[in-house]
Amino acid sequence: MSDEPIDLQDALASFSEIWSPRIVTRVNDYDIRVAKVAGEHVWHVHDDTDEFFLVLDGALNIGLRDGTGGERTVTLPKGSVFVVPKGVEHKPSAPDGASMLVFEPSGTLSVGDRHEEVPDYVDVTTGHPLTRS
Ligand code: NI
Repeated sequence: MSDEPIDLQDALASFSEIWSPRIVTRVNDYDIRVAKVAGEHVWHVHDDTDEFFLVLDGALNIGLRDGTGGERTVTLPKGSVFVVPKGVEHKPSAPDGASMLVFEPSGTLSVGDRHEEVPDYVDVTTGHPLTRS
C-alpha cells in the first residue's frame, strides 16, 4: 500500500482491461478499487456485503432485481454514488463506457457469490494490485 497520494486518473491510465478492478488502496479491511467498464457485466449477488459505487467518468447503469420478479435500472452519471445492498441481485453496465470506484471488503469476488455464466471479457477476480511504472 502506497504512503503517497494516489491520482485516480493515473491509476486508471495504468491499465486497459475492462471489468478488471485494480486495488488502489485499503481502509481497514476494505478495498478501494477502480475499474474501467464497457458493455455488460453479469447478474450476480454478494450474499454478505453491500457494494459501494462511485462513477469517475462516463455513466454507469446498475440493473437491480427485487427478488419477486421485479427489475429496475438506476443510472449513475459521473460523480454519483450508489450502494447495492447485500443480497440484492445486480448487473452493472455501461453502453458508452465508464470508469468507477468500488468500496467493498477485501476478498470480495467481482462476480459475487452467485452469478450467471461469465463471458470471456469479464474478469473473475478479487481485484488486482495496482502496478505503477
Ligand atoms: Ni457486485
